[in-house]
Amino acid sequence: MGEPWNTFVEGDNLDVLPRLGEITGDGSAYDLVYIDPPYNTGNDFAYRDDIRGDATTSRHQAWVAMMRPRLHAARDVLAETGAIFVSIDDNEVTHLRLLMDEVFGERQLLAQVVVGLNPKGRQLGRGFATSHEYLLVYARDARRCVLDASSADTVDERDFPLTAPDGRRYRHLPLRNTNKKFNPATARTLYFPVWGDPGTGEVRTAPFGDAVEVMPVFGDGRPAVWRWSRPLIDERPGDLVCRRIKGVRGDRVDVFQRDWLHPGRRKKLPTIWLAEEVGSTDTAVAELKEVLGHVFESPKPTGLVRRILGTMPDDARVLDFFAGSGTTGHAVALQNAADGGSRRCTSINSAEPTRPGSNAALAGYATVADITRARLRAVAATVGGGLDEPVAEPVG
Ligand SMILES: C[S@@+](CC[C@H](N)C(=O)[O-])C[C@H]1O[C@@H](n2cnc3c(N)ncnc32)[C@H](O)[C@@H]1O
Repeated sequence: MGEPWNTFVEGDNLDVLPRLGEITGDGSAYDLVYIDPPYNTGNDFAYRDDIRGDATTSRHQAWVAMMRPRLHAARDVLAETGAIFVSIDDNEVTHLRLLMDEVFGERQLLAQVVVGLNPKGRQLGRGFATSHEYLLVYARDARRCVLDASSADTVDERDFPLTAPDGRRYRHLPLRNTNKKFNPATARTLYFPVWGDPGTGEVRTAPFGDAVEVMPVFGDGRPAVWRWSRPLIDERPGDLVCRRIKGVRGDRVDVFQRDWLHPGRRKKLPTIWLAEEVGSTDTAVAELKEVLGHVFESPKPTGLVRRILGTMPDDARVLDFFAGSGTTGHAVALQNAADGGSRRCTSINSAEPTRPGSNAALAGYATVADITRARLRAVAATVGGGLDEPVAEPVG
């Protein structure tokens, strides 16, 4: 079921993308596009347009001109509920962001994530040791997008220091809303007394035994509101506890929620991703070395793509049309193997010749597409999920 996990198509993505359904025999839309485009391929033809000699502007324009139709083609194959992630460095991030605004719409921007892929920083050249790049994340339609910007991997057990008698871990969160925007004037229905017994910890919405009345207040004594409604408190009294605490204005009685570390718990993803969490340029090279050798200069770590995959359902259809060494397909197979998901990934790469004398050429890879194919074949053999290799017949 759900196989093959990987499909590889050789060709120029601009030629392949509009016919992708026909080539793969599956016309359904993609839920997730991840690309890591060449950061400045416009170079060769940039100078031809350069009438006034402003080489830098022209180089950016050429890069944007290369990317524009490809991003339009990507939008056309993206599901209405889907999202696109694009890796980019400092050179083109400004231009790419404007281009993405143009193609997808400014309102579809979900995040500009900083990814610290090179913790030591680039030591070559002058100036700062650049240690990060970016991921621009856009929805096809932010109102319908199913992306869940959270992860189970970032949940830290140490944030849950308390243990219940049955061994479950939890932490105390104030039941009052600590956000000053919410107060009796803005959230009237959440301003009501509760009764609690700091001796037993019991909490109810009506008086009982030795319980004292507790009103929601901010640290400075001003009235606040609760986060839970009366019916919710009545429904889950076991998840609340009344305690005597030391406040800045002396001892007081307050009510807390027991926030459980339950299986499958997720935590919102921050917009800075660290190499120790998602891998680094060095670990990416090592991963590829293990499969094929050192045959590609700038692979991405599978951990980065796996974190991206984790934001979408586990049956997502994934597309990478600048596949390079095949990291995205590798990550999809690893993630399916790890969580039993049925993601499928289509990778596209052109038959760009490898540099004569490079490790890749010496290892017998004549084109980058040969490298992509070789890695995905090795992944199918070792991780599983198979590999489909439909041929994109040249047009015309
Ligand atoms: C920065 S690399 C991607 C690296 C990849 N993320 C990885 O982890 O290995 C960009 C890739 O895009 C490919 N490429 C450039 N122009 C292309 C085009 N028009 N169609 C398809 N692939 C293209 C290049 O051959 C190169 O492998």
